[in-house]
Amino acid sequence: MKVLGFSAGSVGREGNVDRMVKAILDRSGHDAEFVKLTNLNFSGCKGCVQQCARPQVCILADDAQPYYEKIKKADAVVIGAPVYFGAIASTALAFIERFFGYRHVDIPIAGKPFVTVIGGGLELDPAVEQLHKMLGTFQVNVIDTIKFESKVPPCLKCGRHKECEIGGLYKIRGEAAKELVITKEMFFRWEDDTAIAGAVDTAADRLKRLMR
Ligand SMILES: Cc1cc2nc3c(=O)[nH]c(=O)nc-3n(C[C@H](O)[C@H](O)[C@H](O)COP(=O)(O)O)c2cc1C
Repeated sequence: MKVLGFSAGSVGREGNVDRMVKAILDRSGHDAEFVKLTNLNFSGCKGCVQQCARPQVCILADDAQPYYEKIKKADAVVIGAPVYFGAIASTALAFIERFFGYRHVDIPIAGKPFVTVIGGGLELDPAVEQLHKMLGTFQVNVIDTIKFESKVPPCLKCGRHKECEIGGLYKIRGEAAKELVITKEMFFRWEDDTAIAGAVDTAADRLKRLMR
Protein backbone atom coordinates (compact mmCIF):
# COMPACT_ATOMS: atom_id res chain seq x y z
CA MET A 1 0.00 0.00 0.00
CA LYS A 2 1.38 3.36 -1.00
CA VAL A 3 0.76 6.67 0.77
CA LEU A 4 1.99 9.98 -0.63
CA GLY A 5 2.53 12.98 1.65
CA PHE A 6 2.89 16.56 0.41
CA SER A 7 3.80 19.59 2.50
CA ALA A 8 3.95 23.26 1.54
CA GLY A 9 5.78 24.00 4.81
CA SER A 10 8.36 26.77 5.15
CA VAL A 11 11.47 26.39 3.03
CA GLY A 12 14.89 25.88 4.63
CA ARG A 13 13.70 24.15 7.79
CA GLU A 14 11.46 21.36 8.94
CA GLY A 15 8.46 23.24 10.32
CA ASN A 16 5.32 22.05 12.03
CA VAL A 17 3.43 21.26 8.81
CA ASP A 18 6.30 19.15 7.43
CA ARG A 19 6.67 17.28 10.71
CA MET A 20 2.95 16.60 11.06
CA VAL A 21 2.74 15.21 7.51
CA LYS A 22 5.87 13.10 8.07
CA ALA A 23 4.62 11.75 11.42
CA ILE A 24 1.30 10.66 9.86
CA LEU A 25 3.16 8.90 7.06
CA ASP A 26 5.63 7.21 9.41
CA ARG A 27 3.00 6.08 11.91
CA SER A 28 0.67 4.76 9.20
CA GLY A 29 3.16 1.92 8.75
CA HIS A 30 2.71 1.93 4.99
CA ASP A 31 5.13 2.42 2.14
CA ALA A 32 5.27 6.23 2.11
CA GLU A 33 6.86 9.03 0.12
CA PHE A 34 7.21 12.57 1.49
CA VAL A 35 7.42 15.51 -0.93
CA LYS A 36 8.26 19.03 0.19
CA LEU A 37 6.42 21.20 -2.33
CA THR A 38 8.37 24.34 -1.41
CA ASN A 39 11.56 22.63 -2.63
CA LEU A 40 10.08 22.10 -6.12
CA ASN A 41 9.87 24.53 -9.01
CA PHE A 42 6.36 24.52 -10.43
CA SER A 43 3.41 26.73 -11.26
CA GLY A 44 -0.32 26.54 -10.79
CA CYS A 45 -2.70 25.49 -13.56
CA LYS A 46 -2.11 27.47 -16.74
CA GLY A 47 -5.50 26.66 -18.22
CA CYS A 48 -4.37 24.44 -21.13
CA VAL A 49 -7.53 22.40 -20.60
CA GLN A 50 -7.46 20.37 -23.78
CA GLN A 51 -3.98 19.02 -22.92
CA CYS A 52 -5.15 17.20 -19.80
CA ALA A 53 -8.59 16.13 -21.03
CA ARG A 54 -7.59 12.80 -22.63
CA PRO A 55 -4.79 11.63 -20.30
CA GLN A 56 -6.87 12.89 -17.32
CA VAL A 57 -3.72 14.11 -15.67
CA CYS A 58 -1.83 17.42 -15.71
CA ILE A 59 0.96 17.32 -18.28
CA LEU A 60 2.63 20.70 -17.61
CA ALA A 61 6.31 19.71 -17.61
CA ASP A 62 7.90 20.85 -14.36
CA ASP A 63 8.95 19.44 -10.99
CA ALA A 64 5.37 18.77 -9.86
CA GLN A 65 4.24 16.89 -12.95
CA PRO A 66 5.43 13.35 -11.99
CA TYR A 67 3.38 13.49 -8.79
CA TYR A 68 0.02 13.82 -10.56
CA GLU A 69 0.41 10.35 -12.07
CA LYS A 70 1.66 9.04 -8.70
CA ILE A 71 -1.41 10.46 -6.95
CA LYS A 72 -3.65 8.57 -9.37
CA LYS A 73 -1.90 5.32 -8.40
CA ALA A 74 -1.50 6.00 -4.65
CA ASP A 75 -3.79 4.35 -2.11
CA ALA A 76 -4.00 7.48 0.03
CA VAL A 77 -2.69 11.04 0.15
CA VAL A 78 -1.73 13.36 3.02
CA ILE A 79 -1.56 17.04 2.14
CA GLY A 80 -0.33 19.82 4.44
CA ALA A 81 -0.32 23.59 4.07
CA PRO A 82 0.52 26.60 6.21
CA VAL A 83 -1.93 29.50 6.35
CA TYR A 84 -0.81 32.69 4.65
CA PHE A 85 -3.03 35.78 4.71
CA GLY A 86 -5.89 33.73 6.08
CA ALA A 87 -5.81 31.32 3.12
CA ILE A 88 -3.91 28.15 2.28
CA ALA A 89 -0.36 28.99 1.14
CA SER A 90 -0.24 29.53 -2.62
CA THR A 91 2.30 26.72 -3.06
CA ALA A 92 -0.34 24.23 -1.91
CA LEU A 93 -3.04 26.04 -3.86
CA ALA A 94 -0.98 25.88 -7.08
CA PHE A 95 -0.34 22.18 -6.58
CA ILE A 96 -4.02 21.36 -6.04
CA GLU A 97 -5.18 23.59 -8.92
CA ARG A 98 -3.55 21.14 -11.25
CA PHE A 99 -5.76 18.33 -9.99
CA PHE A 100 -8.04 19.86 -12.64
CA GLY A 101 -6.39 17.41 -15.03
CA TYR A 102 -8.34 14.65 -13.29
CA ARG A 103 -11.68 16.35 -13.82
CA HIS A 104 -12.80 15.23 -17.27
CA VAL A 105 -15.72 12.88 -17.95
CA ASP A 106 -15.04 11.10 -14.68
CA ILE A 107 -12.66 11.67 -11.77
CA PRO A 108 -9.94 9.03 -11.41
CA ILE A 109 -9.14 10.14 -7.84
CA ALA A 110 -12.79 10.17 -6.66
CA GLY A 111 -13.14 8.38 -3.32
CA LYS A 112 -9.38 8.30 -2.67
CA PRO A 113 -8.66 8.73 1.06
CA PHE A 114 -7.04 12.06 1.93
CA VAL A 115 -5.78 13.44 5.24
CA THR A 116 -5.47 17.23 5.41
CA VAL A 117 -3.07 19.14 7.65
CA ILE A 118 -3.21 22.88 8.28
CA GLY A 119 -0.74 24.89 10.38
CA GLY A 120 -0.62 28.56 11.16
CA GLY A 121 -0.67 31.25 13.81
CA LEU A 122 -4.38 31.47 14.53
CA GLU A 123 -7.89 31.55 13.03
CA LEU A 124 -7.31 28.69 10.64
CA ASP A 125 -10.92 27.69 9.90
CA PRO A 126 -11.37 29.73 6.69
CA ALA A 127 -8.25 28.06 5.23
CA VAL A 128 -9.46 24.60 6.25
CA GLU A 129 -12.78 25.35 4.57
CA GLN A 130 -11.01 26.60 1.43
CA LEU A 131 -8.85 23.47 1.22
CA HIS A 132 -11.80 21.14 1.70
CA LYS A 133 -13.94 23.00 -0.83
CA MET A 134 -11.19 22.60 -3.41
CA LEU A 135 -10.66 18.93 -2.65
CA GLY A 136 -14.43 18.42 -2.72
CA THR A 137 -14.34 19.33 -6.40
CA PHE A 138 -12.42 16.12 -6.95
CA GLN A 139 -14.73 14.02 -4.74
CA VAL A 140 -11.84 12.70 -2.66
CA ASN A 141 -12.65 11.15 0.71
CA VAL A 142 -11.18 13.38 3.46
CA ILE A 143 -10.91 10.89 6.31
CA ASP A 144 -9.24 13.22 8.83
CA THR A 145 -8.03 16.79 9.31
CA ILE A 146 -5.34 18.11 11.66
CA LYS A 147 -5.35 21.79 12.52
CA PHE A 148 -2.48 23.20 14.57
CA GLU A 149 -2.59 26.81 15.80
CA SER A 150 0.96 27.62 16.88
CA LYS A 151 0.15 31.22 17.88
CA VAL A 152 3.64 32.03 16.58
CA PRO A 153 3.72 35.04 14.22
CA PRO A 154 6.47 35.03 11.56
CA CYS A 155 7.92 38.10 13.39
CA LEU A 156 9.58 35.77 15.88
CA LYS A 157 11.85 34.65 13.07
CA CYS A 158 12.36 37.78 10.97
CA GLY A 159 14.86 39.53 13.28
CA ARG A 160 13.31 43.04 13.06
CA HIS A 161 10.66 42.91 15.79
CA LYS A 162 12.40 45.65 17.84
CA GLU A 163 11.71 48.24 15.14
CA CYS A 164 8.40 47.00 13.67
CA GLU A 165 4.88 48.28 14.34
CA ILE A 166 3.03 46.52 11.55
CA GLY A 167 3.70 42.82 12.21
CA GLY A 168 1.58 40.28 14.07
CA LEU A 169 3.83 40.41 17.14
CA TYR A 170 3.22 44.15 17.61
CA LYS A 171 -0.51 43.57 17.12
CA ILE A 172 -0.51 40.95 19.88
CA ARG A 173 1.87 42.60 22.37
CA GLY A 174 1.97 46.30 21.46
CA GLU A 175 5.08 48.27 22.55
CA ALA A 176 6.20 45.30 24.67
CA ALA A 177 7.02 43.49 21.39
CA LYS A 178 10.00 45.82 20.93
CA GLU A 179 11.60 44.66 24.18
CA LEU A 180 10.84 41.01 23.67
CA VAL A 181 13.73 38.60 24.06
CA ILE A 182 12.97 35.70 21.76
CA THR A 183 13.64 32.30 23.22
CA LYS A 184 13.41 28.78 21.87
CA GLU A 185 10.42 28.08 24.12
CA MET A 186 8.30 30.62 22.20
CA PHE A 187 8.26 28.41 19.11
CA PHE A 188 5.43 26.04 19.88
CA ARG A 189 5.81 22.62 18.41
CA TRP A 190 2.85 20.38 17.69
CA GLU A 191 4.63 17.52 19.45
CA ASP A 192 4.21 19.41 22.76
CA ASP A 193 0.45 19.82 22.32
CA THR A 194 -1.15 16.60 23.60
CA ALA A 195 -4.40 17.16 21.69
CA ILE A 196 -2.58 17.58 18.38
CA ALA A 197 -0.20 14.71 19.08
CA GLY A 198 -3.26 12.53 19.71
CA ALA A 199 -4.93 13.78 16.53
CA VAL A 200 -1.83 12.91 14.49
CA ASP A 201 -1.88 9.38 15.96
CA THR A 202 -5.59 9.03 15.17
CA ALA A 203 -5.08 10.15 11.55
CA ALA A 204 -2.21 7.68 11.12
CA ASP A 205 -4.30 4.93 12.67
CA ARG A 206 -7.19 5.66 10.30
CA LEU A 207 -4.81 5.27 7.36
CA LYS A 208 -3.43 2.09 8.85
CA ARG A 209 -6.86 0.52 9.40
CA LEU A 210 -8.20 1.67 6.06
CA MET A 211 -5.70 -0.43 4.22
CA ARG A 212 -5.42 -3.58 6.26
C1 LIG B 1 3.64 35.33 4.06
C2 LIG B 1 3.10 34.79 5.35
C3 LIG B 1 1.79 35.07 5.69
C4 LIG B 1 1.24 34.54 6.86
N1 LIG B 1 -0.07 34.79 7.15
C5 LIG B 1 -0.63 34.17 8.23
C6 LIG B 1 -2.02 34.32 8.49
O1 LIG B 1 -2.74 35.02 7.79
N2 LIG B 1 -2.55 33.68 9.55
C7 LIG B 1 -1.80 32.87 10.36
O2 LIG B 1 -2.33 32.29 11.29
N3 LIG B 1 -0.47 32.71 10.15
C8 LIG B 1 0.12 33.33 9.10
N4 LIG B 1 1.46 33.16 8.84
C9 LIG B 1 2.23 32.27 9.73
C10 LIG B 1 2.37 30.93 9.08
O3 LIG B 1 1.14 30.26 9.00
C11 LIG B 1 3.38 30.13 9.88
O4 LIG B 1 4.60 30.76 9.72
C12 LIG B 1 3.42 28.74 9.37
O5 LIG B 1 2.38 28.01 9.93
C13 LIG B 1 4.70 28.09 9.72
O6 LIG B 1 4.56 26.76 9.35
P1 LIG B 1 5.71 25.73 9.59
O7 LIG B 1 5.97 25.69 11.08
O8 LIG B 1 5.16 24.48 9.09
O9 LIG B 1 6.88 26.19 8.79
C14 LIG B 1 2.04 33.72 7.72
C15 LIG B 1 3.38 33.46 7.35
C16 LIG B 1 3.90 33.99 6.20
C17 LIG B 1 5.33 33.65 5.83
